[in-house]
Amino acid sequence: MLIRNRRLRSSLALRQMIRETRISPESLVLPIFLKEGQGIKSEISSLQGQYHYSPDRVGEGIQKALDAGVSRFLLFGIPKLKDPVGSQAYAEEGIVQQGLRSIKKDFRDKAYLITDICLCEYTDHGHCGVLKGENPENTVVDNDPTLELLARTAVSHACCGADMVAPSDMMDGRVFALRQALDGAGFTNMPLMAYAVKYASAFYGPFREAAGSAPSFGDRKTYQMDPHNRREGLKEAFSDEAEGADILMVKPALAYLDVISAVRDNTNLPVAAYSVSGEYAMTKAAAAAGLIDEYGVMCESALAVYRAGAGILLTYYAEEIAKAIRKGDIG
Ligand code: PBG
Repeated sequence: MLIRNRRLRSSLALRQMIRETRISPESLVLPIFLKEGQGIKSEISSLQGQYHYSPDRVGEGIQKALDAGVSRFLLFGIPKLKDPVGSQAYAEEGIVQQGLRSIKKDFRDKAYLITDICLCEYTDHGHCGVLKGENPENTVVDNDPTLELLARTAVSHACCGADMVAPSDMMDGRVFALRQALDGAGFTNMPLMAYAVKYASAFYGPFREAAGSAPSFGDRKTYQMDPHNRREGLKEAFSDEAEGADILMVKPALAYLDVISAVRDNTNLPVAAYSVSGEYAMTKAAAAAGLIDEYGVMCESALAVYRAGAGILLTYYAEEIAKAIRKGDIG
């Protein structure tokens, strides 16, 4: 018998009807970079089309995204002062704290604000926690003392109006530490999205330039995951779930679709994926060189992440993807 697989592809109406993967703008999250200072709106050289905003101007970026149909944001902060213990991460007048107050004042519930919880943008050495050791050879990121600082950061963000916190540091026990601290401060309903399966990846390069957060020595391989491992990713996902995470994230996205799929099959929590700076920058660069169709590659890459099992996508293309959904090209 001749099986006519093409029958279901014969019209756009039919193709749209039988789509197995559905995407909605409500599941998109746009990263936003807050920079300490005033009057700042400057394009990030490593992330074309993305901007550094000071708290007094961040509303321009939020409004532009809202107009495109994106209303969930992930906030990062770039402080003026960095020190060994990242104190601007949990300072009352820290950059994310200022940004949260400013956005909430102007937009209230129109903008849903998730904050990245990590110390690497705030430490002068660029590592995600405090250090222990006398010289570069025996220096390590000290897990347990870091937990307290991360927890302070999360509570501080909650006090300034954050709607969700997202620890990205990869310290052991941080989800439990944050949950305890948030509950203790009365934020029992604050949702926590864990960067549960976060690999030590070269795809973060453009972000580190944007955030000035590249480690000044060594790398992040003693806390972020080894790209060889998938089962270990599940172990990370399970421990964050057991510690009280509400949403599990896999990061990066495109090179780790197998991991997204495995996490989806092994948890009942919502699964998010972060299409990181290198994924965005590569697409932009290839398009600028005339090698690929940016719009098509963007749509197809987003679809791949959802098809693998993610229900939430964090991406620098959030606005453009929302527009593509509205046009009916995907979704
Ligand atoms: C902070 C953090 C990083 C990213 C998100 N949170 C950088 C890193 O781990 O080095 C990367 C995001 C991106 O590349 O888009 N720890």
